[in-house]
Amino acid sequence: MATLTLNILVCLLLLIVDAAQSSALRKGVNVEIIEAKTLDIYSNSKEARNILDDAPAFGEEMRLAQFNRFEINYTFLNHGSFGAVPNQVRQKQNEMMDLRERNPNQFINATQYDLIDVARRALATFLGSAYANLILVENVTKGVSNILRSLTLAPGEAILINTFTYSSMKNAAKAMVDRSEGTELFILELEFPINSPNDVIMLYTEMLTEHPNIRIAIIDHIAVPGVMFPLRELIDLCKSHDVLTVIDGSLYKWLFGPPGSSFQWSAERHHSIVQPAVTSFYYGDPYPANFERQGTRDAIPFIVMPSAIEFFHWFGGLVSAREIQNILFDDYLIQAKVEFRHKMYIRISLMVYVTIDDCKELVDAIVDLKARQMEHNQLLLIQRLQSDQSEISAMNKIPDQIIK
Ligand SMILES: Cc1ncc(COP(=O)(O)O)c(C=O)c1O
Repeated sequence: MATLTLNILVCLLLLIVDAAQSSALRKGVNVEIIEAKTLDIYSNSKEARNILDDAPAFGEEMRLAQFNRFEINYTFLNHGSFGAVPNQVRQKQNEMMDLRERNPNQFINATQYDLIDVARRALATFLGSAYANLILVENVTKGVSNILRSLTLAPGEAILINTFTYSSMKNAAKAMVDRSEGTELFILELEFPINSPNDVIMLYTEMLTEHPNIRIAIIDHIAVPGVMFPLRELIDLCKSHDVLTVIDGSLYKWLFGPPGSSFQWSAERHHSIVQPAVTSFYYGDPYPANFERQGTRDAIPFIVMPSAIEFFHWFGGLVSAREIQNILFDDYLIQAKVEFRHKMYIRISLMVYVTIDDCKELVDAIVDLKARQMEHNQLLLIQRLQSDQSEISAMNKIPDQIIK
């Protein structure tokens, strides 16, 4: 199936290149390169993504541009445990550290709270969450512990994990059972490899049906063996059994944040009970103020999250693919599937009723979009600079040389 799709895509690109080469070349799109590298489309085709932006190609080029601090000859294949941070995020971290060093009291007592708030808002927008439901925490372990420590299990009730549950979450579940007399821990046995999400849903259904005393289920989004859980279905299933779900997922792996950046999301109806596991300054204050000042900690990983989100968009993340598909339809009346699977690409499904002019139209739209995108990026940058400037001058806290 994958080969078939690849072949179709290659043919389509050749076709579109032939058909539209001259008009696209006139407009400055390097379609020759697309043609020469059609077979590379899934492996390292900068061109496939660069139709719409100027980010480096994945692989060597990306590493040299943004991840070039690895030791020489060090082959790093473990982003899934501790991810590398892109240079632009790292640079922001350095700037913030310099700022903190210049006036630690000012930064720790005041400035950082404003900056954390900006980051929280940016992340909420990125995730499509209400701002009030989301706070930043150092890591997933803390987030899960915060939640489990805020909940209680009555005698006879149980918590559910599975074979793949990350060790620290497993222990948090065990600790909860240890401190709550008469409660139980269930471990759903899952075999690797998992053939289909439906198998997992079925096993969870059986488990929850057989054990109606289960009240909480901890589910990894992406578990250590590289298994992505069907979260939407599992959350719905748990809800239908009156089971609360605790989902584990971080920011420093898949969203390019530095270690020490994760988030904790909780629905509004739980805010009155959610407490930090670490008791600190604002004990007794309502959520989320009770999480605000957990001793003296490094808030810079939180603060740089807008840069990490910017990086994600820059190379064409999932949101961009969806946005571009919508723009193609809304502004150009072209319906084509835009996908981001390691790269961004546009699938053109040819059928007996499609003309070569239809394909040319798509190329013209892409050319136009590219121009708009560049204008848009410049505009965003200007807006950001302006808003940074006004926020900063309003606070009158951050020296000018920090603003880039
Ligand atoms: C499933 C899962 N959860 C959580 C983590 C990390 O947790 P923490 O952010 O607390 O270090 C990992 C790291 O590999 C993981 O694979």
